[in-house]
Amino acid sequence: MTKVLTVCLGNICRSPAAQGILQAKADEKGIELVLDSAGTAAYHVGNPPDTRSIGELSRRGIDISKQRARQFAQADFEEFDWILPMDHSNLNNLMRICPEHLQYKVQLFGGFSADSKIISQYGEEVADPYYGNDKGFVDMADHLELLAESFLQTLSKTESHGR
Ligand code: 4NP
Repeated sequence: MTKVLTVCLGNICRSPAAQGILQAKADEKGIELVLDSAGTAAYHVGNPPDTRSIGELSRRGIDISKQRARQFAQADFEEFDWILPMDHSNLNNLMRICPEHLQYKVQLFGGFSADSKIISQYGEEVADPYYGNDKGFVDMADHLELLAESFLQTLSKTESHGR
């Protein structure tokens, strides 16, 4: 089964939301995935997602309250098929420690924009909403929904044609 890891800095705002949204959309489409998320930093290890991420996802019918933050581990490069950082800083931090033969697994989540309008509206990064207001969490979830759709489309294509 395909294993997907979403990654951000703290693993309390963006990557838990991305995990929840991917899970909900995969379930809807009958796609079986193993999903997890992690942070490149250890600040929030063991904590539930930020209440603003939990709240915004809950308004969309998705419960992420049971997730707990963990730090990315070197073994994740072997364990997962796709490792999806939310911004360039996360991407660079992962690439610095990723063995060369596994680097193909690490891809910016924002790069999965089937519709070029997604990039022109949001850019390539899922913006970090942590220090902002509630609107940032609405925008984050809107962006993640579009990227999750695009990623699952890519996945269906690569699964049927090989990677
Ligand atoms: P995340 O957001 O990377 O989307 O989980 C952040 C959460 C916490 C911090 C920064 C970003 N922090 O500095 O504690």
